[in-house]
Amino acid sequence: MSKWLYDEGKHCGVDYSKADQAEMYDEQHQKFRDYEKEFKRMMDFLEFRNTKDMTLVDMGCGTGATSIFAANFFKNVYAVDVSDVMIKQARKKIEHRNIHNIRFVNAGFLSYRHQAEKVDLVVTKAAFHHLPDFWKQIALLRINKMLKMKGLLYIHDVVFHFDPKEHGRKINSWIAGFEKLAGKEFRSEIETHIREEYSTFAWIMDGMLRRAGFTVEKCESADEFITEYACRKVSDLNLEETA
Ligand SMILES: C[S@@+](CC[C@H](N)C(=O)[O-])C[C@H]1O[C@@H](n2cnc3c(N)ncnc32)[C@H](O)[C@@H]1O
Repeated sequence: MSKWLYDEGKHCGVDYSKADQAEMYDEQHQKFRDYEKEFKRMMDFLEFRNTKDMTLVDMGCGTGATSIFAANFFKNVYAVDVSDVMIKQARKKIEHRNIHNIRFVNAGFLSYRHQAEKVDLVVTKAAFHHLPDFWKQIALLRINKMLKMKGLLYIHDVVFHFDPKEHGRKINSWIAGFEKLAGKEFRSEIETHIREEYSTFAWIMDGMLRRAGFTVEKCESADEFITEYACRKVSDLNLEETA
């Protein structure tokens, strides 16, 4: 492996490789999230129907917020994450449930090699901002390679839509709103996100998506931070694998 390759195992910001972080993840997140509603919202946003013969890849699957619901609607689900302890939590959640079509893979945006047929949908929720922009671009090229032509990429993440000149006021007011919703404990996680993780500007994301062979069919953000993208693969790019 090349020495210049980004180390996905080092976890910028919140460290999801820690067992206690993984164990408390769902309890913390369910204070302000409803995974099932989020899944339905995603399917409506993408206008995805008749998915029973389709395959989905969930990049940065964490404890299975998307993958576990997706398993009821898709033929195959590949749930990929760099954190083995997050995957362990996801596995635990389906232990006594009749779910047999999720394949968990301990790998990342830059290391996962999709060996099976090309897929219909790649989803990534609250994970893409873990990569700096250069590596986001490489990850998008790799996602392009996994997808069938006209397949969809769904990104749900923090992306900045505000004027950079106003960043201080915008960030403070967003964090205050988030604290109201998710509680005081979550405030420092959001501060860490802004300080140490790699959320980027919407115009940068747009350019990267285009260069990776996608058109953005939909981009919505209610608060100029949390953003959903529906992106369609429109060209094959013949990416050479990183050495
Ligand atoms: C905030 S959690 C989101 C988990 C899940 N998608 C959700 O909606 O709850 C971020 C996840 O991204 C994973 N992650 C971080 N860097 C990654 C990378 N380079 N490739 C794949 N997953 C990564 C972390 O291990 C963590 O499980």
